[in-house]
Amino acid sequence: MTDDDVDGAVRVQVEAFGDLARREGETPHPITDSVLVRSRARHRHLLKHDPDGAYVAVEGDTAVGCALALRRNDLWGLSLLVVDPATQSAGVGRRLLGAALGYAAGCDRAVILSSGDPRAMRAYATSGFALHPQVHATGAPDRGAIPALPRVRVGGVDDIEFADRVDVAVRGAAHGPDHELMMSQLTSYVVDDTAGQGYAYVRDDGHVYLLAASDDDTATALLWQCIRDVADLDLPVTIEHLNDGQQWAIEVAYRARLTVQPAGPVFWRGGTPPRAYLASGAYL
Ligand SMILES: CC(C)(COP(=O)(O)OP(=O)(O)OC[C@H]1O[C@@H](n2cnc3c(N)ncnc32)[C@H](O)[C@@H]1OP(=O)(O)O)[C@@H](O)C(=O)NCCC(=O)NCCS
Repeated sequence: MTDDDVDGAVRVQVEAFGDLARREGETPHPITDSVLVRSRARHRHLLKHDPDGAYVAVEGDTAVGCALALRRNDLWGLSLLVVDPATQSAGVGRRLLGAALGYAAGCDRAVILSSGDPRAMRAYATSGFALHPQVHATGAPDRGAIPALPRVRVGGVDDIEFADRVDVAVRGAAHGPDHELMMSQLTSYVVDDTAGQGYAYVRDDGHVYLLAASDDDTATALLWQCIRDVADLDLPVTIEHLNDGQQWAIEVAYRARLTVQPAGPVFWRGGTPPRAYLASGAYL
């Protein structure tokens, strides 16, 4: 993949996830200008920092598929795998995954946050990854359930080194340059006291984007803060990538009276999902 492929790859991403949403009986997310700007920034960021993990499939001059993978310390992650709906089920996704997995050479651990597409799940499960079921939680939060949160403060660029230290302790790998991008795009919160350390990002469309903490109580406080943030915006909240290690978060979701439903699984190779952690689909 090169910079010239970004617009085509973003188009494939929009088409593939729109089609998946329709097949799953959901309404595709509206593709606003800010969604496109954010998607292009994600592609360019990964192309810059992980050029050897970025691949496109082309037919003539047209992009028909894209894979973006990243490596942070010993951890490899698949940020994106999409194939144009008109080209799906013809082996392109499998080949793109194989290319992106070449970039995992030398990494001890690897993670993929899967969609519910059976082809994606099959490709990951048959590439040496273990499947861990997940749910997601959505809805308008019950404001009355939100507790006082004296430990939480707003984060900022000065917290990036701190956040990397939390990452290393919680998931064994820093996010490095991803924090710089996330700090510029998202609202962040931090807890750093004698009881625990952690950080969280929340997006202005109501998505809890990424959360990492030393312990369940700190993670719980950060998650409630994100929920409060979204409630203040009068938006529904979305919390994704909850697996069986994250009962603390599932409890918060039910207390906030969100709807919890099955979602695509997370796949791990050489490791298991961190506990006080909610992964980012893009930066894992
Ligand atoms: C998921 C996706 C990337 C797969 O790419 P693809 O080119 O359509 O898939 P492939 O043709 O390479 O098939 C992958 C595997 O699924 C199998 N498969 C094909 N159709 C299938 C079906 N209907 N049900 C189950 N498995 C199927 C293939 O046989 C192949 O397995 P194999 O190599 O062991 O034979 C693509 O379908 C897509 O973009 N889906 C929507 C977006 C998405 O969910 N992306 C994944 C995000 S994690």
